[in-house]
Amino acid sequence: MITASTIGSQEKLKLAVDRITGLPTLPQVITEITRLMQNPRTSAEEVGKALIMDQALASKVLKLVNSAFYGFPGRINTITHAIVILGFNTVKNIILTASIFETLGGKGGGQKEFDIEKFWLHSIGTGVLAREISKKLNFKFFEECFLGGLLHDLGKIILYKFMPEEMDKVLQVQKEENCLFFLAEKKALDVTHDQIGGWLTSKWNLPEDLRNAVLYHHMPMLSGKYAMMVSIVHIADILCRALCIGSGGDSTIPVVDEKAWEKLKFSRQLIDKIYSDIDLELEKAAVFFQIM
Ligand SMILES: [Fe+2]
Ligand SMILES: [Fe+2]
Repeated sequence: MITASTIGSQEKLKLAVDRITGLPTLPQVITEITRLMQNPRTSAEEVGKALIMDQALASKVLKLVNSAFYGFPGRINTITHAIVILGFNTVKNIILTASIFETLGGKGGGQKEFDIEKFWLHSIGTGVLAREISKKLNFKFFEECFLGGLLHDLGKIILYKFMPEEMDKVLQVQKEENCLFFLAEKKALDVTHDQIGGWLTSKWNLPEDLRNAVLYHHMPMLSGKYAMMVSIVHIADILCRALCIGSGGDSTIPVVDEKAWEKLKFSRQLIDKIYSDIDLELEKAAVFFQIM
């Protein structure tokens, strides 16, 4: 529901974000690849040729494709080969994942007190957990769930890298009140990281399911037809905190949305199963730190 205070927040957000100079853009090749993949007549060779224009990105994609995390059998040496074996959709998700690390990875710069290493661990951990939950639930969009988990706190990276003064204010409130990062943002800025991240996903023209995962990961039931995926990301975020994998900027564990829990038909047994597999999956995810 849009209220007077929502409109006020959105205006503030727009003003704040408009002030950011040098906001990252996804590699240009992503636009070209998305365009090519929308055409059913596009061949694997055409996509391969487009990606090779960005050598650094192409090598990251190949590193991921051949990693234990994706676990594809046999060595894959070219993007064309990857598409033939894995299909367009899988390769598209891997290209997007690599481009996120290319654009936002790296530990340089940023607000000093925010622990960016722990933050990336939280993001990767949430992605890994979201992927595990969706696999266990036989929800077929597990690659999309990984990306949703990886990106859910996108707005915090923007605060960290491009709005250090605003980040200072948030961290100050967070420390004083020992509250959730989200509540500290509300108090300090009247704008929260889900809104900032949601705005950026629109600007980047990311797929709608991903945009919903970023924008509604704290309120999954607002995400309409994407409620299943967003509920998975919501619960993965909370489990990640409960398991102390990295840090999202605070040490408080938010309450699980009951409706999201019911939607996934989540059970204690399922959590135990996820917990028993997660260490191995996290070990395999070490590859993401190698491509940052
Ligand atoms: Fe969040
Ligand atoms: Fe989070």
